[in-house]
Amino acid sequence: MEDIRVNLKKTEDKSYNIIIADGVLDQIPSKIKEAGLGHKFAIITDSNVETLYAGDLSEGFKKNNLENKIISFPAGEQNKSREIKAWIEDQMLESKFGRDSAVIALGGGVVGDIAGYVAASYTRGLPYVQIPTTLVACVDSSIGGKTAVDTPHGKNLIGAFHQPWAVFIDVNTLLTLSEKEIREGLAEVIKYGIISDSALFSFLEENMDLIFSYNKEALTHIIKRGCEIKAKVVEKDERESNLRKILNFGHTIGHAVENLSDYKISHGEAISIGMVAEGKLAVEMDLWKESDLNKLINLIKKAGLPTDIPDYMKAEQIIDAMKLDKKSRSGNIEMVLPNRIGYMTQVDGGYGIKIEEPIIEKVI
Ligand SMILES: NC(=O)c1ccc[n+]([C@@H]2O[C@H](COP(=O)([O-])OP(=O)(O)OC[C@H]3O[C@@H](n4cnc5c(N)ncnc54)[C@H](O)[C@@H]3O)[C@@H](O)[C@H]2O)c1
Ligand SMILES: [Zn+2]
Repeated sequence: MEDIRVNLKKTEDKSYNIIIADGVLDQIPSKIKEAGLGHKFAIITDSNVETLYAGDLSEGFKKNNLENKIISFPAGEQNKSREIKAWIEDQMLESKFGRDSAVIALGGGVVGDIAGYVAASYTRGLPYVQIPTTLVACVDSSIGGKTAVDTPHGKNLIGAFHQPWAVFIDVNTLLTLSEKEIREGLAEVIKYGIISDSALFSFLEENMDLIFSYNKEALTHIIKRGCEIKAKVVEKDERESNLRKILNFGHTIGHAVENLSDYKISHGEAISIGMVAEGKLAVEMDLWKESDLNKLINLIKKAGLPTDIPDYMKAEQIIDAMKLDKKSRSGNIEMVLPNRIGYMTQVDGGYGIKIEEPIIEKVI
């Protein structure tokens, strides 16, 4: 028998910049040209964002003599599918995109996730640029390198880790969002306040009106803090072994609520409900002050998001749904719980806390 070793141990620098600037959309093509990122660009977007922003971006590439093609699919989570991914790839193959190409993901989290996954696998990997245009995408999905599509068996089950070359955030693009989409993003920003930034939490308490009047400074501030927090967490724990778990605050019960509602309750609404329920657990377990929980409930209400589990959902159903969720390893229910606003509880150096079912039943 011969043992032949294939030595692959190497360290690779996958660092990238997040550029947040008013009007940066117009400057992206020239920045990309300067960097020599590629010779041909697939601008992947959805039907809503296409009509709003893809034309100008494509023109900008043309002005810089960069060949590009807009590939747009119908908007909606149902299209974050393997079928649409294959359709996008076929469009690129037919247009002879080769290894000297790059992907531009222009849109919300749906576009970012599917375009990122196309970039991860097309000719075994192309560089890609994230241009997030929803608040969720700006503060969450565009950072961290998780890319995926949904399947009939569950969301985000097929995908890859693939870090973008850069993320460009133009706050102007958020001005066309509906209030509902602003609320979706705010749920994650509130989460960042609880898990890591009490000043951000206070800013939200004091400036909700400005945010809902689409004030650019207020939006820029929460995006900047959101990106900084997510970036810090992901930097320290790229593949979710410990610290990255804190990003799951509100998501363990939240995912169960989202699933049980058959996705009629949106992700932002579900995690708002989840943060309150998990916060109640933390209070029940003497880890968190009730006055802080009340601050959280008030802030979520101020953002126009729900705080209560719908009556039709029973405790056992929620517990079963949590056990099925990929975040609960080996049937144990694990959560991350706050300790103070801005700090999460650690037990023996770990953030994941095993929770006994009777306590969950009591709180729910
Ligand atoms: N990869 C990650 O780490 C990660 C993290 C969080 C969420 N996600 C994923 O992100 C997705 C949700 O993202 P989302 O909330 O951005 O949804 P989305 O991409 O569906 O966007 C929501 C709606 O807003 C529209 N839209 C986008 N930008 C707009 C703009 N500037 N003006 C007007 N309308 C605009 C879209 O066309 C869509 O109809 C989910 O699939 C989720 O799984 C991924
Ligand atoms: Zn989330």
